Amino acid sequence: MENLIIGCDHGGFNLKNKIIEHLKEKRYTVEDIGTYSTESCDYPIIAKKLAQKISDGVYNKGILVCGTGLGMSIVANKFKGVRAVTCTDTCSARMSRSHNDANVLCLGERITGEYLALDIVDIWLSSEFSGGRHQRRVDMFEN
Ligand code: RB5
Repeated sequence: MENLIIGCDHGGFNLKNKIIEHLKEKRYTVEDIGTYSTESCDYPIIAKKLAQKISDGVYNKGILVCGTGLGMSIVANKFKGVRAVTCTDTCSARMSRSHNDANVLCLGERITGEYLALDIVDIWLSSEFSGGRHQRRVDMFEN
């Protein structure tokens, strides 16, 4: 089973814990880089820490949770090789893997309920990149 990295700010703390619990039941190994409470903190610090590890190839995939899933993706996408997507539905989750080879999933605890969020996580993790013409387009992201 794939190793994953996950992070959150205070706005995503509860959902992050639910996701970790869910992934551990499915036998994933998950590195949790915090934050570790609902005390207010700055999401860019967490997003940068996770995105750097994706960019460096330490992990192939990561999950970031904040209030909306928006700030995390904006920050993560500044890192070379990071393709972060905010998903609020399962179709976008599947397509972000299939067409965009997304490697960071961003979720918003204040936007998406727990059951849907866990479905999004499952679908995102199990969907494969289609390659082919999509690989050519993904290759254009940074060149
Ligand atoms: C924190 O209040 C909130 O701004 C953060 O969790 C996130 O939604 C940012 O995009």
